[in-house]
Amino acid sequence: MNRSIIPLLCSFLLLSASSASAFNITKILSQYPDYTNFNDLISKTGLASEINAKSTITLLAIPNGAIGDLTSKSNDVVKKILTTHVVLDYYDTMKLQKLKDKTTKLTTMFQESGKASNDQGFLNVTAKDNTFVFGSAVKDAQRDSRLEKSVMNQPYNISILGISQPIVTPGIDSPLAPSSAPPPKANTPKSSPPKAESPAEEEAEAPTKEDITEAPAPSKDADSPSADSPPADAQSPSSSSAEKLKISFGFFVLLASMVAAY
Ligand SMILES: *[C@@H]1O[C@H](CO)[C@@H](O)[C@H](O)[C@H]1NC(C)=O
Ligand SMILES: *[C@@H]1O[C@H](CO)[C@@H](O)[C@H](O)[C@H]1NC(C)=O
Ligand SMILES: *[C@@H]1O[C@H](CO)[C@@H](O)[C@H](O)[C@H]1NC(C)=O
Repeated sequence: MNRSIIPLLCSFLLLSASSASAFNITKILSQYPDYTNFNDLISKTGLASEINAKSTITLLAIPNGAIGDLTSKSNDVVKKILTTHVVLDYYDTMKLQKLKDKTTKLTTMFQESGKASNDQGFLNVTAKDNTFVFGSAVKDAQRDSRLEKSVMNQPYNISILGISQPIVTPGIDSPLAPSSAPPPKANTPKSSPPKAESPAEEEAEAPTKEDITEAPAPSKDADSPSADSPPADAQSPSSSSAEKLKISFGFFVLLASMVAAY
């Protein structure tokens, strides 16, 4: 076998691995009638394609009956809320049951957005009453989104866990109370409705240096095999299906020519 072809082959393999999209979340969720509203919101907010660009996620899905007023909030706010339901690691019920100390802190897609302050981008999951309870990791947040069932999983790329009700992250659709967060800009009227999110408010919510350093390194500690592909990589917008096809095709052509040469 020609020696010079080996490094080339390796780079092709790497390329096709890093640009692989593991799933189509819209298609997966469409098979579960309990989650049609949730699926619609994920598409409407453009979150579906961001989720598809990931190779390792756990989605906390809200059933139709519990979607509540999420459908009446602004697209921007709904998107922020839904990103707190996307965990940037793989957790199925088996992995939850093996949790050390029966509790852990999870990093969500909201943390990546740069809009999270304090612990808004993290969840706390804790074993309770023979199931698990998810909630915001923000201090004193209510944590009562119970794990109801495992909807589907495809280890170690995607797991969908059905939860009883939306996760409520304090301050996610309005500036946080001054006691627990950097104070909102002085000219922000306190009585403004939560929907009116001016760019200035967004700025006020930008993460502090502390938040950034607090973010755990991309799941190095995770025991899933895909842990060595950093999330940033998976996010690259270049992973269109056409490109993937081209790469796979290139790879096969290469393989075929190697076999022929041999
Ligand atoms: C899981 O994701 C990796 C990329 O991280 C991909 O190569 C692999 O094909 C995916 N597995 C499945 C079953 O889709
Ligand atoms: C994902 O699946 C949906 C529904 O089947 C389809 O409309 C959409 O085009 C798919 N998206 C991609 C990127 O393949
Ligand atoms: C999650 O919250 C519970 C209850 O407040 C707490 O006891 C536990 O230590 C928290 N877990 C983590 C990993 O912070």
